[in-house]
Amino acid sequence: MKLVRDLDVAHKTVLVRCDFNVPFVNGVISDDNRIVSALPTIRELLQKGAKVVLMSHLGKVDHKDPVKCEEQKKKNNMAPVAKRLGELLGMDVKFCPATHGEELKAAVASLKDGEVLLMQNTRYEKGETKNDPALAAEWASLCDAFVMDAFGSAHRAHASTYGVPEILRKEGKQTAIGYLVEKEVKSLGKVVHVDDDGRPFIAILGGFKVSDKIKVIDSLVKKCDKIIIGGAMAYTFLKAIGHKVGHSPVEDDQLEYAKEMYKTGKIMLPIDTVIANDFDNPTDIKIINSDEIPDGYQGMDIGPKTIEAYVNEIKKAKTVFWNGPVGVFEKKQFQTGTIAICKACAELKGKAFTVIGGGDSASACKQFGYKDEFSHVSTGGGASLEMIENDGHLPGIDVIGD
Ligand code: 3PG
Repeated sequence: MKLVRDLDVAHKTVLVRCDFNVPFVNGVISDDNRIVSALPTIRELLQKGAKVVLMSHLGKVDHKDPVKCEEQKKKNNMAPVAKRLGELLGMDVKFCPATHGEELKAAVASLKDGEVLLMQNTRYEKGETKNDPALAAEWASLCDAFVMDAFGSAHRAHASTYGVPEILRKEGKQTAIGYLVEKEVKSLGKVVHVDDDGRPFIAILGGFKVSDKIKVIDSLVKKCDKIIIGGAMAYTFLKAIGHKVGHSPVEDDQLEYAKEMYKTGKIMLPIDTVIANDFDNPTDIKIINSDEIPDGYQGMDIGPKTIEAYVNEIKKAKTVFWNGPVGVFEKKQFQTGTIAICKACAELKGKAFTVIGGGDSASACKQFGYKDEFSHVSTGGGASLEMIENDGHLPGIDVIGD
């Protein structure tokens, strides 16, 4: 692929699509990992003497409902990201509150070599998620070259991730992937195509819905030696094979699918489960075999026998892909399973290739102090799953060309 290091961009304006979709708590950025991960590409372009224009989405903006739209725009203002980026780069990062028109054009035109400008949230524009051709053309007209470094958004064929580079390529302008995307593609590529040396290949899938993961389960069943299931999605599988799951969340429309997948013989399900009488206010917590969760209780975490079985399986692995915590790790009483998975993967350091596919499992491994023990922690949840589903292809990366 064309890489940022190969670009010839001295004195040129380079538009960089980053993924600055970062979490906020009380108006303050609570995890700046995605901003930190974008620094190598930005620094490389500054060193090359380019004028750097950054763009990203932040949260969702519902343009159908005018009241909601204004509220979401206020909430998802990109200005704090410019401030944090400036602190990390140790330089002034200009912020343009406009996403189109003369104000944006003038802000870009005023940039000098070696300066950085971040524009407002791309989703302020209605046409962004629709890949509106006029919007993509306007953004493309602002720059001489484009760098895709938003791995977390590379599964979205939006105006900023797809429309702009598509136009620039047609115009014969330079397009490339950044360092973050390069690292993600290399690392995730190792779980997309696993050879004999990488086996056994174990996937650990957790999280809430089977329906969100149908395509990736389909794909992993063909690629993996075993799929370990945890989290709320386990109860749909347990019910599908005839177990009592009490008041655990179940997707009844996915029972047939879960049954079919179980028949492949590759799916491992919890043997025992930590259950509670209430999700928000659990006052009665016990461990029970997974085939006898009584009414009035719901599963909250995997139990000790399951942890032992899952850890034994993980120990044998040469490649591990993990997406989704195996319990309600946000609550102290139900963290044990997810911590045990983190620990088992950490013990494979130097012996196996271990990858976390973004999202909540990435937050969990960070929270429990295991982030550096994994071979790779992806910055993209949806993107890493789609990359596996689509055998290594994502629209926002494929459009860059080679
Ligand atoms: C993410 O956080 O997964 C990415 O930034 C993509 O966000 P989106 O699901 O709102 O497109």
